[in-house]
Amino acid sequence: MARHLVTSALPYINGIKHLGNMVGSMLPADVYARYLRLRGHDVLYICATDEHGTPAELAAQEAGLPVAEFCARQHSAQKEVYDGFGLAFDHFGRSSSQQNAEITQHFARRLQEQGFIEQRTVRQVYSVADGRFLPDRYIIGTCPYCGYDKARGDQCENCTRVLDPTDLIDARSAISGSTELEVRETKHLFLLQSKLQSEVAAWLAGNGSTERWPVLASSIARKWLTEGLDDRAITRDLDWGVPVPGDTWPELAAEGKVFYVWFDAPIEYIASTKEWADSAGSEDRDWKSWWYEADDVTYTQFMAKDNVPFHTVMFPATELGTREPWKKVDFVKAFNWLTYYGGKFSTSQRRGVFADAALDVLPADYWRYFLMANAPESDDTSFTWELFASSVNKDLADTLGNFVNRVLSFSRKRFGDEIPAGGAPGEPERELGEEIGRLLAAYEAQMEALQFRRAAQALRALWSAGNAYLETKAPWLEIRTDPEAAALTLRTAMNLILLYAVVSDPFIPTAARAMRAAFAPAGDAAVWVGAEEARSLDALAAGMPFTVPPVLFTKITEEDLEAYRERFGGREADAGADPGTAPGADAESGPGAS
Ligand code: 2FM
Ligand code: ZN
Repeated sequence: MARHLVTSALPYINGIKHLGNMVGSMLPADVYARYLRLRGHDVLYICATDEHGTPAELAAQEAGLPVAEFCARQHSAQKEVYDGFGLAFDHFGRSSSQQNAEITQHFARRLQEQGFIEQRTVRQVYSVADGRFLPDRYIIGTCPYCGYDKARGDQCENCTRVLDPTDLIDARSAISGSTELEVRETKHLFLLQSKLQSEVAAWLAGNGSTERWPVLASSIARKWLTEGLDDRAITRDLDWGVPVPGDTWPELAAEGKVFYVWFDAPIEYIASTKEWADSAGSEDRDWKSWWYEADDVTYTQFMAKDNVPFHTVMFPATELGTREPWKKVDFVKAFNWLTYYGGKFSTSQRRGVFADAALDVLPADYWRYFLMANAPESDDTSFTWELFASSVNKDLADTLGNFVNRVLSFSRKRFGDEIPAGGAPGEPERELGEEIGRLLAAYEAQMEALQFRRAAQALRALWSAGNAYLETKAPWLEIRTDPEAAALTLRTAMNLILLYAVVSDPFIPTAARAMRAAFAPAGDAAVWVGAEEARSLDALAAGMPFTVPPVLFTKITEEDLEAYRERFGGREADAGADPGTAPGADAESGPGAS
């Protein structure tokens, strides 16, 4: 049995995420993990909240809470929403965990021993008004590359370049807005990425071959590598973070320096796996076997495009530099932005639809399906309530939901509570079987290629094939002249429903469970049927009992739409509030940064 490790980019701790964040990392990771589990693989899906760094400190300050308390509350709030979305993590950890502190410090010591860390005196921005050094996002200013005027000290969210705070033009403090900034000297640790450049290149070209990755991630990774790897400061002057260990760097530890959030965050993928093992309190969960000398593990990462450089170049460089056999990523799946009526989702301005509010409006399956069927894979996608409603009404309510209800209600009415007997499969059933086998093979191929829109298309085509069959056979007419023929049609259609109940599970797990329950009230196991086997459409035999599930999906009415537009401010006229910037990337922005 193949082992699959799946991780989604760790959501920043501050604030409930919006739909753009969901579709860019956690949701596709969950869909993929569910698919792999269904196919019988041994899967570990790991995520966590990304709790350190300036975003957390700034948000806690704004909320008037000690940062540890703020993070604990936000972690639970986020976890609750992800549960609501049906995200079946094996573990949802916290980067502020003891496990992460230990493993991060271990990585740093190893990198030091291998000669990849150097202590350097740097000139850093100091805010006289705030009485402190200003790391990263505490400084905002104009990007020297693209001219975007709200670039942060560590990355320009417009052109996605990684920046150094001193690169910014017209820099100002994000805390006070003060421009009274000085450059002072202080010491920091640097990761000597330049020394690892050729190794990272070799890894990317060989084992981590970007040829096999979906194109968005591989093109960004190659662009980054071509531009060259600079040595990078991996410590910060902050209170909240993994402390620099005093045994190795006594001076920096005494000054209270902590590791940079982007140094400890990817290591939390490993640490969260250890949290998963530790939380079981038994020997059954061997976290290390997933990460250390784990050649039998296939590791797939999910993230939005602004995260790609950190995952494809910097974190692999960190891993390589330890000279220990840590598992490196095999496949990287990246996403473009989901926009809200063409403009950016904004956490700070509460613009767009946030995950908690989404669940308040409709159950998770509606969102899961819509978002994945319209995932921003090859380009940005614009969320509009109109598109959402038409996709829900057409695909979920009409094509799938109505089919299920029509078939089961009609059969019960005419033949009672058991799957009707009679009739022998003929040419239409053979043709249907062929079609189903072909579409199922396409669905599997797209899922395995991490092409979710196309997988959703194949799924939709499977649902449509059932409708087409039903329309052609018209059991409501057959019943008048040939009840046996009607029984065959309904029995075949029920077999389709059972197939849908399995293959739809990654996208719409709740509805899939309800469909399975119609035939097996006691058991909930979904067993994948291969494309070949699926053709026969005879797994459910005549005489087996079934029930009619409640309506699977209700349609969104014009009135609903009006209410949603009213509540969320979605109008065509709102489009493009700030179209030039990267939507979704501001989830972590501090005050004044968005
Ligand atoms: O961009 C973000 O939302 C980051 N919090 C992602 C971190 S991913 C990882 F490496 F931890
Ligand atoms: Zn820029």
